[in-house]
Amino acid sequence: MKIAIGSDHVGFELKPAILEYLTELGYTIEDFGAYSGDRVDYPDYSKKVAEAVLSEEFDRGILICGTGVGISIAANKFKGIRAVVCSEPYSAKLSKEHNNTNILAFGSRVVGPELAKMIVKEWLDSKYEGGRHSKRVEKIRDFEN
Ligand code: RB5
Repeated sequence: MKIAIGSDHVGFELKPAILEYLTELGYTIEDFGAYSGDRVDYPDYSKKVAEAVLSEEFDRGILICGTGVGISIAANKFKGIRAVVCSEPYSAKLSKEHNNTNILAFGSRVVGPELAKMIVKEWLDSKYEGGRHSKRVEKIRDFEN
């Protein structure tokens, strides 16, 4: 599985721990920035990761800002993106199984590195169930047209 990851300068504080963890788990990752704690605007990284996922070169995306809120709101403006912001693993898992989320977001000011790793693992290990959920996800897709 190929993963595109991005953050703003606040999310950058947590990103190295997540990159290391994903590498340990054997995922192929591309880091789309930010690459330092210098102040940037989170929508720019939402765009990079959303476009990477929509290009189908990457299977899923991960976004980190201070809360996960702004960076997920911006990602959800891209047609075909279903981004979820999570601060616990249960919602992360269900967001994949039921809502087929393709971007996971969280906040470096909300979750610590160990909880963030649990959230990421739960989401990456989960698969979309389809079935009864399909027509609901289709309805969301219809709103884009
Ligand atoms: C940056 O100060 C902060 O607003 C950003 O990281 C994020 O929390 C926005 O939702």
